[in-house]
Amino acid sequence: MTTLTESAQWQTLESLAQLVEKEHMRDWFASDANRAADMNVEACGLFLDFSKNRVTKDVLKALFDLADARGVAQHRDAMFNGDIINNTEGRAVLHTALRNFSGQPVIVDGEDVMPEVLATLDKIEAFTHSVHSGEHKGYTGKAIKHIVAIGIGGSFLGPKIMTEALKPYQQDAVKVHFVANVDGCHITDVLSAMDHEDTLIVMSSKSFSTQETLQNTLTAKDWFLKQGGTQEDIARHFVAVSSNVKAATEFGIAEENIFPMWDWVGGRYSLWSAIGLPISLCLGFANFKGLLEGAFAMDEHFKTAPNEQNLPVILAMLGIWYRNFFGAQSHVMLPYYHYLRGLPAYVQQLDMESNGKLVTQDGDAIGYETGPIIWGSEGTNGQHSFHQLIHQGHGVIPADFLMPLNVPNQDDTHHAMLASNCFGQAQALMQGKTFADCYADLADKGLDEAERKRLAQHKTMPGNKPSNTILFEKLDPFTLGALVAMYEHKVFVQGVIWQLNSFDQWGVELGKVLGNQVLAGIQGNTEAETFDSSTQNLINRFKQTNAPK
Ligand code: F6P
Repeated sequence: MTTLTESAQWQTLESLAQLVEKEHMRDWFASDANRAADMNVEACGLFLDFSKNRVTKDVLKALFDLADARGVAQHRDAMFNGDIINNTEGRAVLHTALRNFSGQPVIVDGEDVMPEVLATLDKIEAFTHSVHSGEHKGYTGKAIKHIVAIGIGGSFLGPKIMTEALKPYQQDAVKVHFVANVDGCHITDVLSAMDHEDTLIVMSSKSFSTQETLQNTLTAKDWFLKQGGTQEDIARHFVAVSSNVKAATEFGIAEENIFPMWDWVGGRYSLWSAIGLPISLCLGFANFKGLLEGAFAMDEHFKTAPNEQNLPVILAMLGIWYRNFFGAQSHVMLPYYHYLRGLPAYVQQLDMESNGKLVTQDGDAIGYETGPIIWGSEGTNGQHSFHQLIHQGHGVIPADFLMPLNVPNQDDTHHAMLASNCFGQAQALMQGKTFADCYADLADKGLDEAERKRLAQHKTMPGNKPSNTILFEKLDPFTLGALVAMYEHKVFVQGVIWQLNSFDQWGVELGKVLGNQVLAGIQGNTEAETFDSSTQNLINRFKQTNAPK
């Protein structure tokens, strides 16, 4: 295959970018009344308006040609078929099997994984029911009222953010609390508000070797024993989710309390597995299943819709356009729905851990930009802080606006204001405000000419800033599942275009190794010369105020 940047499709896009660079979206809207009608897609309960992008029909065609030429469809099929596409870890990538309701087998190493997947779902359902019904009791006979879910990264963000986003669906039976950080403040705060007799700890770690999760679980175990529980009582109060069943049993979790997952589920793609147990406990199994069903619908859409109608492909190729042809360094996510405020953090791990890569699948240095910085926060809050830079700062920051059309238990005025801000921001980004308009406004206010000119320069908004708007009827489990799967597949398509492995994360490993060496240094087990002088000074300073007592 030709190098990406030398391909005919890439060259076409480079020429088109030079033309588009000179054009303004507001002129396109003024000259084409059908632009919004032509540039939207609806599937799986999600409506995407992508008309406020710096693309013409020619650009879209060239982007889809690139997707075809780089084999997006073939790579997609390879993923769904269970081929070993994670080539640095020698693994299939099958989070899609976890939500496969087609009744069809999914074969890995010659074996159908579906029976195990479905059996684990049954186990999640049965356990959720036994906790909610009070059948699963603590060691003193009290029903479980609180779940402390311990995990980090993909073993935390998915469950935390999905349960937060689906707050209206939370069940009264139990309250779920999440702890990720190894900073002891968090676990201490959470545990100090719990009664150990009605608390269940769910420890989630695919590898069962993550320092933060192991330490927080040890602290929880210590707390449980100090509060009066005994070693035998642990079985009623501690369960684990892991692909490393051996390590979990050695840690002291009873085998029947271990919910399995598999090495073909990546951490940041794992909320659909038993890592989603806290979701089921918080929202009820039917709602957890609803999430999976929404994701399954998006999988089918991704597999079957033509490029022009395919939500993940459209979003991915627009992202390629800005990242590689307009120098966009970041992408901002703007959920206009308080409960969905965690989405930027979720997509941040999904995208940045997947596509923040320097080499191709074959290990060759990549000579073009890959994954962007993903950031953002809930609207309207961001409008009063960082939107300034998106409107008037240098460069292009593509934005995704997301908003439900209906929200639970809310005053109409609030919701109308929220919607008007969301749509108004996208409009302002697109059209901007010309110097002439600003000048005219100032003239109307009676300012003298020098002052008009001076202030109009500051008030001018360039506009031409791209955004997508994604609307949905309401954020129910199905819609959220479809939304998250849409972003998963967007990231996948971009990884294919950039020819990288979206499913490993070697970049996080060195920090873990050095962190452990520093810990040994702090705890006095390592020779001083192991560290550079800066790190050694920092360790010494820390030790001065943390001398062994
Ligand atoms: O450090 C990164 C990472 O490996 C993520 O990919 C993963 O989601 C997280 O750590 C937690 O890993 P585990 O589930 O194995 O504890």
